[in-house]
Amino acid sequence: MDVVADDIRISDDPAELDRDRVFQWISGESYWAKGVSREKQETAIDNSWCFGAYEAASGEQIGFARVVTDRATFAWLCDVFVDEAARGRSVGKSLMSAIVAALEPLGLRRMLLATADAHGLYAQYGFEPMTSPERWMVRPGVLETPAG
Ligand SMILES: CC(C)(COP(=O)(O)OP(=O)(O)OC[C@H]1O[C@@H](n2cnc3c(N)ncnc32)[C@H](O)[C@@H]1OP(=O)(O)O)[C@@H](O)C(=O)NCCC(=O)NCCS
Repeated sequence: MDVVADDIRISDDPAELDRDRVFQWISGESYWAKGVSREKQETAIDNSWCFGAYEAASGEQIGFARVVTDRATFAWLCDVFVDEAARGRSVGKSLMSAIVAALEPLGLRRMLLATADAHGLYAQYGFEPMTSPERWMVRPGVLETPAG
């Protein structure tokens, strides 16, 4: 999968990921997984469907998102991150468009995510507040943070 829109390219090729950069974003800068170990981050990447956003001209990675899925019924979208210097240029929206387009043909029963403040981004791609949150339960783990 390779989607190019203007100056941004989205790819799901794991070989293209700049893993050092992704680790800096998620472990160093994110509000949900700060301090996560490199080993845990690598395991998560290796076992997920990962999407990278790249400068079309230089190939520099400027964004990342991770989808945990059985590719049949369910997907969990997480670790959505755009480099601070590249924010506000539709990188996040390009990532979301590519992810939704890639997952749509699977006919999933549902796709979930948690966010502290980016509801307005995800709402543009069909996400909505849970209608029956009382039906859902969570078993918190050691990495649990306010936004999961
Ligand atoms: C959130 C984030 C991924 C957005 O990426 P971006 O490339 O800067 O965003 P885009 O330029 O594609 O535009 C995002 C759109 O969502 C909207 N939005 C809603 N909540 C937002 C938020 N918390 N942050 C950024 N944009 C938000 C913007 O207003 C914009 O709307 P528009 O269609 O009117 O332009 C990026 O700011 C980021 O990485 N932030 C730090 C990490 C983070 O919070 N990740 C999300 C965790 S759930």
